Amino acid sequence: MELQCRAAEMQDVESLYKLIQMYAEKGIMLPRSKEMLVELIDTFVVAEVDGHIVGCGSLCKLGQDLVEVRSLGVSDGYKGMGIGSKLVDQLLDTARQQEISKVMALTYEVAFFEKIGFSIVPKDIFPEKVWRDCVNCPKQYCCDEIAVMKRLH
Ligand SMILES: CC(C)(COP(=O)(O)OP(=O)(O)OC[C@H]1O[C@@H](n2cnc3c(N)ncnc32)[C@H](O)[C@@H]1OP(=O)(O)O)[C@@H](O)C(=O)NCCC(=O)NCCS
Repeated sequence: MELQCRAAEMQDVESLYKLIQMYAEKGIMLPRSKEMLVELIDTFVVAEVDGHIVGCGSLCKLGQDLVEVRSLGVSDGYKGMGIGSKLVDQLLDTARQQEISKVMALTYEVAFFEKIGFSIVPKDIFPEKVWRDCVNCPKQYCCDEIAVMKRLH
């Protein structure tokens, strides 16, 4: 199996759309239209195995010193092979290059994030997140996702 993690390109939009849509339908990821993906393409990394996209993740800047890992997913059949952690590593490198020290995520996959060095934190330490996204979210008052964070330096 030849695995490559790389920055996403325009030609990946269709595959990204399908992967994210699959998780969005299960309620564990926010949906992204193809138009949004075109706009956000520079924030995405993809994992490619033998020419097929089997994983993705993106980084969203929330504040001067805070980014969020978003749209992180690995296709069924490719989980547990280190692909998710490789994708996050690549996103963390990008955050380091931008001299950002705090990386957060809202997730149901706490065990995965803890394995790769994130810790559970209270959601309300991220007013940037709450005011920007959570205010428009249907789950605003019944959010069951867990906030995790990693400090880079
Ligand atoms: C979360 C997800 C991206 C992890 O990807 P993955 O490629 O399976 O993860 P990795 O193989 O890199 O796992 C890294 C470590 O975390 C552990 N791990 C991964 N998922 C785990 C889980 N659900 N429970 C416990 N441990 C887990 C692995 O065993 C591995 O540990 P090891 O280094 O001791 O072997 C993947 O399960 C997924 O796509 N989930 C659905 C979408 C989702 O919820 N995304 C998160 C949104 S923020």
